[in-house]
Amino acid sequence: MNQISDSPHISSDAASFVVVANRLPIDVRIDDEGDVHWEESPGGLVSALAPVLHGREAVWIGWSGVATEVDAIPAFRTPAMMGSYHLVDVPLSASMVEQYYEGFSNSTLWPLYHDRIVAPEYHRDTWNAYVEVNLHFAEHTADVAAPNATVWVHDYQLQLVPSMLRALRPDLLIGFYLHIPFPPAELFLQLPWRQRIVEGMLGADLIGFQTPFGANNFCEVTSQLMGYESDSASADGGWIDVGTPSFNMANSVQFRPARNHVARRVQVDAFPISIDVASLEELAASPKVQQRALDIRRDLGDPKFLLLGVDRMDYTKGIEVRLRAFVELLEDDMLDPAHTVLLQIATPSREQVQEYQRLREDIELLVGRAAGALGEIGQVPLRYMYSGLPRAELAAFYVAADVMLVTPLRDGMNLVAKEYVATRIDDSGGLVLSEFAGAALELPQAWLVNPYSLESVKEAIMTALGTTPEDRRRRMAAMRTHLREHDVERWAREFLDALAATGS
Ligand code: ADP
Ligand code: G6P
Repeated sequence: MNQISDSPHISSDAASFVVVANRLPIDVRIDDEGDVHWEESPGGLVSALAPVLHGREAVWIGWSGVATEVDAIPAFRTPAMMGSYHLVDVPLSASMVEQYYEGFSNSTLWPLYHDRIVAPEYHRDTWNAYVEVNLHFAEHTADVAAPNATVWVHDYQLQLVPSMLRALRPDLLIGFYLHIPFPPAELFLQLPWRQRIVEGMLGADLIGFQTPFGANNFCEVTSQLMGYESDSASADGGWIDVGTPSFNMANSVQFRPARNHVARRVQVDAFPISIDVASLEELAASPKVQQRALDIRRDLGDPKFLLLGVDRMDYTKGIEVRLRAFVELLEDDMLDPAHTVLLQIATPSREQVQEYQRLREDIELLVGRAAGALGEIGQVPLRYMYSGLPRAELAAFYVAADVMLVTPLRDGMNLVAKEYVATRIDDSGGLVLSEFAGAALELPQAWLVNPYSLESVKEAIMTALGTTPEDRRRRMAAMRTHLREHDVERWAREFLDALAATGS
């Protein structure tokens, strides 16, 4: 992980462009001596947003990743400057972290929005903490934003912020972007606080989703809950007319007039997120990364085929299915353990949440068993690392891998798939990609799989390894062309242009 050791720099200027996310782009780490260090935060939201803000004048409001009681660590409490933009830390106490972050955000919303892969928990206490922390974020934002500023609120942890902020500061232009899937109505409507969440999001002028399915699901839910008229597929962009219910008893679950909303139009659309393609290409082409890729292959015993998985350690990512598929292919003698390696790199994530602890135990058990059962002495076809890596190191692993396995059971987008493609500067390599990742809509030339079917994953691995170099090149070239035209800068521009247009 990169260490960012510049001393924090204080600014009291009001900002005309404010990004609000649960996470700051840097995470606080405290070493054994009690010294404070900053590291890059994990996950796709930060990977995408950090390059977008580079060079822009902005303020990023978020949490440092560590629970802080008031004044416990003074360095946390100050805004810090990163390049052109400022960071404002929102301190969260240990109980807020437990209830709002580990609880409502990651034990209720995260599993509910990802198809209930594990059962969501519904607790009034964690909901109350979610409301409290969202208000905390909204108040910080209201203090920092200049008159008529543009505020861009991010992700499922902060869905109440748009309406809270609108109530505090009606002058602001507010955009909200959901990085994870918005689930179909039959799932979302389980949430005891469903109407409050929808009202919270509707405080924005523009709501962005990863895919048209998310936008459509959201419109469906607002129609069922509030009876609002909407069109998610309008040629000029989707919309919802808030405060003017076309109430229809037949399709309304429960109608209560929305509070705090006068009649106004909220724009709703899909904006598929992306990556900084040019900088990854440059990194992949650098002699240092190219050499490191060769060294990695050598260290792994120079296999004929190197397969790779890279994920946060998360049950949505389908890590288990790809490991099982690989083990079965070895057991079935479809792959030769003397010439094939699968390396799984998993970044630690949400380690205090029980389901994440359980997942890690399951994966490590599987890896341990496979090590004992497969291959001759000295051969270890399944390798596993539990750590975050610096960007250049990660790029070298992408460059080294012949086939990338991206098999989430559900994923808003999946930037790892896009990152792998961007680093294949000679158009080599194959991507096995889940149909249930948002990225599948943009990368149909990947070998698409149903991750719930072990056979489907096994078949795709064999096809990706067995196809001709020309076929692999043709597919990779098409995916690279698409990505170059749809990088993260374009994503941000399209969202912010659409947001600006709502104010005109
Ligand atoms: P999510 O947002 O759910 O974490 P994504 O695939 O969209 O999933 O984004 C994950 C981001 O985290 C990518 O930018 C990827 O490079 C990064 N990442 C994943 N694993 C590691 C790792 N072991 N070391 C460093 N970065 C990682
Ligand atoms: C996903 C979410 C982000 C989150 C990231 C890392 O990308 O959409 O909001 O920041 O995972 O998770 P964490 O809980 O460590 O912030």
